[in-house]
Amino acid sequence: MSDTVQQIKEKLDLAVFLKPYLQLVPAGKNFKARCPFHQEKSASFIVSPEKQVWHCFGCNTGGDILSFVMKYENIEFLEALKILAEKAGVDLQRFGNSDQKKFNILYDINQAAVKFFQEALRHAQGKQVMDYLIQRGLKPETISDFEIGFAPDSFDALLQYLIKSRFSTADIERAGLIFKSQRGNYIDRFRNRVMFPLRNAFGKVVGFTGRILPGAAPQGGASLAQDGRETPKYVNSPETQIFNKSKILFGFDKTKSAIRDSKSAVLVEGQMDLIMAWQDGIQNIIATSGTALTVDHLKAIRRIADNLIVAFDQDEAGQAATEKAIDMADAMDFSTKVMMLKPELANQNLKDPADIAKAHPGALAVMLQESQPSMIYYFSRYLSKPKIAKQDLRAVLVKIKNIYSPVEKSKWLKELANKTKVDEKSLIEEMEVLQDSGPSGVAEENNSPQAQSLPRKDLLSQRIISLVVARKDLFSAKGGSASGGKIEEVSSTLTPAYQKVLSYLNGEVGVELPAQHKTVADLLSLRVSVDASTDEEKIRDEAKELLRQLQLENYKDQRLILKSAIEQAENAGDEIKLAVALSEFDKISKQIQTLNNQAKT
Ligand code: CTP
Ligand code: MN
Repeated sequence: MSDTVQQIKEKLDLAVFLKPYLQLVPAGKNFKARCPFHQEKSASFIVSPEKQVWHCFGCNTGGDILSFVMKYENIEFLEALKILAEKAGVDLQRFGNSDQKKFNILYDINQAAVKFFQEALRHAQGKQVMDYLIQRGLKPETISDFEIGFAPDSFDALLQYLIKSRFSTADIERAGLIFKSQRGNYIDRFRNRVMFPLRNAFGKVVGFTGRILPGAAPQGGASLAQDGRETPKYVNSPETQIFNKSKILFGFDKTKSAIRDSKSAVLVEGQMDLIMAWQDGIQNIIATSGTALTVDHLKAIRRIADNLIVAFDQDEAGQAATEKAIDMADAMDFSTKVMMLKPELANQNLKDPADIAKAHPGALAVMLQESQPSMIYYFSRYLSKPKIAKQDLRAVLVKIKNIYSPVEKSKWLKELANKTKVDEKSLIEEMEVLQDSGPSGVAEENNSPQAQSLPRKDLLSQRIISLVVARKDLFSAKGGSASGGKIEEVSSTLTPAYQKVLSYLNGEVGVELPAQHKTVADLLSLRVSVDASTDEEKIRDEAKELLRQLQLENYKDQRLILKSAIEQAENAGDEIKLAVALSEFDKISKQIQTLNNQAKT
């Protein structure tokens, strides 16, 4: 296994591979870019072609080509490996162990099933289905673009076909396409249904969703439903090694580049909504499939888009889902909007985007253009009565509290104050004591970029070390850098561990680093190469500020220690110790004052 990974990694160049994903800017012998894993204005994501690694100094994550693909595409190890193997032209089947073979075969089976379902749509039985699809408003090109098919009304037509194609029953079952009936024989999961292939972000089919045909098997008539209850409108593939419902977004393989270009994604509930809207010219669109929206879905979108427009069904269930989606998205720093039905289209029984696209081609684009910020949606949902009830006001305050960005929060508090004529200060007070009813999972998952960061002192130390090593000339005694500090001065503000890292990176002989510090040093050397190409003045300014902040942190630490020393001396009644500690405390407080004042000038 590790041989295969090695082989793949040797064939692919990380920087070349990353080009379509990121805007890489050369920086010395490395590249830098804005990090795709957290929001940032400056570029702290660094790629080393030499080491074939990436690292983000902003959110403190990093790794190799495999970990990048896994993180970026939200996929598991084997899946990422498979994608990279294909790119590298390495035959996983040949190298791989039996685990990988078992994994690969799931893709092959799903692909074979796509062919089978498409074929069935062209045959006699499929004629009615084709008519149905056309009647729903689909054009033949759209049907073939999405490779829509038909699962015939048969117990095992697919099973027989796949066995003839030399797949084993066990593998077909693992792919989720058949299941064991109560009588103990295998039958097709999808029977007499319109079939929509579900693809991962790379366009590989990982499962299916099958829609019932109009008039087919009502009330579970054929009693083939697995649970014996009413036949559901949609049946989905079960989760498999390659199909994770909470990660897959329907349509994403086709729409991700439009989403990336527009920085904006339209979210709909169903595959028919997506396909009809796509046909109507909306290209930056995605749908969940067979599951409610999850944080993982949104993370995949957030990486490439800042704006999310929720365009769910117009019924009450759709509106409840809208509320959940908005709350998750607002907490993840999306600019969230809601598409509202045009008033002139109300009373036409248009329940979802698919209906709208069919009845009024072109209307969706206009409605999307006119979609309203999520908070305006909430204002109209909760605050449109003439007299505002306390619980409705609180409901809106909880929504504002949930917004990720403080700037946005304060903007909407102002709006709310305007609208309700309650002063902002009272609103804030009320808001602060309210429980967040944020969607579960968002807060715990640490979506905030800061959550993963190192302690502030580490960040400052690493930053200044990098500058000093990058431009030794500016910090040496001869460099005459009065303002930026000399190496010795910088070193004295660092902890012994970081002092060693600095010496090591400066090439001092005989410096031995423990493994953990060695890792830090290696990462820092990446950053050094970027800083080396930074302009001299900038480096001096930044170093000066970093030094000030580091000294400030050190003094604050010392003051904390003194504080407890003072308490101890007081408790022990040791007046001499107390006097010494107090005078030290005073001195340090003054130093802190001075450093703080320096920031203001
Ligand atoms: N869904 C599902 N299982 C069900 C019902 C719905 O997985 N039993 C999912 C499907 O992905 C469906 C979406 O939820 O597309 C929205 O459901 P609904 O609005 O009922 O379906 P529509 O997309 O409107 O289907 P159609 O237009 O074909 O009636
Ligand atoms: Mn619908």
